[in-house]
Amino acid sequence: MTVAEKLGQLQQLAWTGDTGPGGGQNHLVESAARAGTLGSVLNLYGAGHTNALQRVAVEETRLGIPLLFGFDVIHGCLTTFPIPLGQAASFDPAVAERDGEVAAREARSLGMHWTFAPMMDVSRDPRWGRIAESNGEDPYLTAAFAAAKVRGHQGTDPAELALPHRVAACAKHLAAYGGAEGGRDYNTVDVSEQRLRNVYLPPFKAAVDAGVATVMAAFNTVSGVPAHAYAHLLTEILKEEWGFEGTVVSDWNGVAELVSHGFAEDAADAARAALSAGVDMEMVSPHLADHGEELLASGAIATERLDDAVARILRLKLRLGLFERPYTDERAELTAPTPESRQAAREVASRSLVLLKNEGPVLPLSPSAGSIAVVGPFADSDDLHGTWAGPGASRFPATTVLEGLRAAAPEARIAHAAEGEAALAAVRDADVAVVVVGEPSAISGEASSRSDIRLPSGQPELIHAVAATGKPFAVVLLNGRPLDVSDWIDAAPAVVVAWHPGIEGGRAIADVLFGAVNPGGKLPATFPRSVGQVPLTYAHENTGRPAPPDSAPDAFVSRYLDLPTGPLFPFGHGLSYTTFETGAPVLDVDTVSTADLHAGAAVHVTVRVTNTGTRAGDEVVQLYLHDRAASIVQPVRRLRGFQRVTLAPGESTELRFTLGAEDFGFWTNDSRGEFRLEPGRVDVYAGSSVVASGRVSVALTR
Ligand code: IFM
Repeated sequence: MTVAEKLGQLQQLAWTGDTGPGGGQNHLVESAARAGTLGSVLNLYGAGHTNALQRVAVEETRLGIPLLFGFDVIHGCLTTFPIPLGQAASFDPAVAERDGEVAAREARSLGMHWTFAPMMDVSRDPRWGRIAESNGEDPYLTAAFAAAKVRGHQGTDPAELALPHRVAACAKHLAAYGGAEGGRDYNTVDVSEQRLRNVYLPPFKAAVDAGVATVMAAFNTVSGVPAHAYAHLLTEILKEEWGFEGTVVSDWNGVAELVSHGFAEDAADAARAALSAGVDMEMVSPHLADHGEELLASGAIATERLDDAVARILRLKLRLGLFERPYTDERAELTAPTPESRQAAREVASRSLVLLKNEGPVLPLSPSAGSIAVVGPFADSDDLHGTWAGPGASRFPATTVLEGLRAAAPEARIAHAAEGEAALAAVRDADVAVVVVGEPSAISGEASSRSDIRLPSGQPELIHAVAATGKPFAVVLLNGRPLDVSDWIDAAPAVVVAWHPGIEGGRAIADVLFGAVNPGGKLPATFPRSVGQVPLTYAHENTGRPAPPDSAPDAFVSRYLDLPTGPLFPFGHGLSYTTFETGAPVLDVDTVSTADLHAGAAVHVTVRVTNTGTRAGDEVVQLYLHDRAASIVQPVRRLRGFQRVTLAPGESTELRFTLGAEDFGFWTNDSRGEFRLEPGRVDVYAGSSVVASGRVSVALTR
């Protein structure tokens, strides 16, 4: 390969629109493909369109190296699944695997080889719009979902990537993007090594262990160095410590932005810094392609690094089978969601719903009950797909809540009015009301941070007005982030958090409202009392002056004057139409040595859970640890196990959890990576949320 051909493989350019070669600005992409100086294209899809451009690369260039087509398939391609934050609320990683499988089949049939998912940025700040794309605040939960999504996209056998129903996944964004100061997108992140390794990196490690083919660098700085130029992250940890052999792609213009950050002097310097730090492919900006030759000639970049980057990209193309089968079978292209994919999306959505409160109880509604008023700005809205929905979202509208309720209860008299006096009149006339409120999906996602995380204006007023009618009602919340609901929560007897639930959202919500599905989801991120509390996490460290979470504390403790320190709804919270009792955890040993743990020993924990109510339902039993004293102050709780089980009324079962070195230990501030297990007492809690009641402890000895 010539140097220009090598540098060409490192270049990814964006297609504008889906019109095929020749349209708009796309002649630049096409001419780079024809010159053999293009490795990859993002945002072009359609088997015919991708094949047309692929033909140029394969049949008109000297080397005939196929292009790699990438796309953001975040929570569904033609069939939109719930946003990833919603999926995490299922506490069932199998839902992410299912989404990943359905999406991969659809995407590959449309000519896409590679998706920029899963996103696995842990975030404790609901102001950050991209929390919608994340799995919430917890590294352990996120790691489980990240690995499941990778399996869903790629399969478990590395050879599967060449199959026509698999796509290469991308673990993004390395790293700590979810820690943006002030929750403002793209903002600075300053983390200690221990926080980087204990909080932000575990999902990436889990994705690498699951065989993720690619990794994307984050837009933010990490402790002063932009992630795109942070060799410690992209090379020392990812490629050397973890042995990652795949491809690191920049984010959109992320290499060029090294100049805006004030890190690189100019485009050439940015190209040097990114490649040298470990970026293999440059998305959109062309700095490596433009300046690579001069950088090589001056010795500013090493030939070995360039060759390594090229090899990583070619290996990916080989694994995808593109050298043997560069073209997508146009006859097999999927054109619409199938009944099966819709059913999968509906089941995943219903598993993602969280019953926040249910006084009365208002829910479930009876499908044969007389009259139901369905009101609110989102009652008949199909804005349920959520941020970063795939190409299907613009072509296949989501079922609305109104449609879902009408389909589920043809006998019931269902009246609808969106807002205002008509809505209140409908409520007065009905036996019960459903008030559908929330965030338009455009106000969460990338570049959609908010400083005020309450419902948009007019909606809390509507809830209060409905409450004033005296009719029983349930609020359905459509949200891309944990919201501050404190201005209306006390007025609402029942609340279902439905996130942005995807194409089958309306039907899934109806399934839950009528009790065909008993809700079992749990909050994957804390709901604060006020935006003033954020960032907020259950897994905070204790200060020297801790305050009790709910009671009015003494002065001179770590608190706000005007708020309790605890959340409004804690991590892991979620109710059911039945009741459960979770017993105290029981350990098989009282003592275990750190040496034995290092050698693979484990502590086994059993927890009994019983359905004490009268309906079948799902409970998520959660296991948390707290290391009482350690050389790095430990979070007051750390999730280290969860299991979602379905139990018939009166049924009881014993769940078994295994805790090993990975669960008891922690990373220190040593930048070379020191994972430490220390002697001392560790408390083990089990329960139905982080406010877990049952506690035992285990002694770790030398
Ligand atoms: O994959 C995305 C990334 O998450 C944000 N910037 C643009 C990329 C490609 O669309």
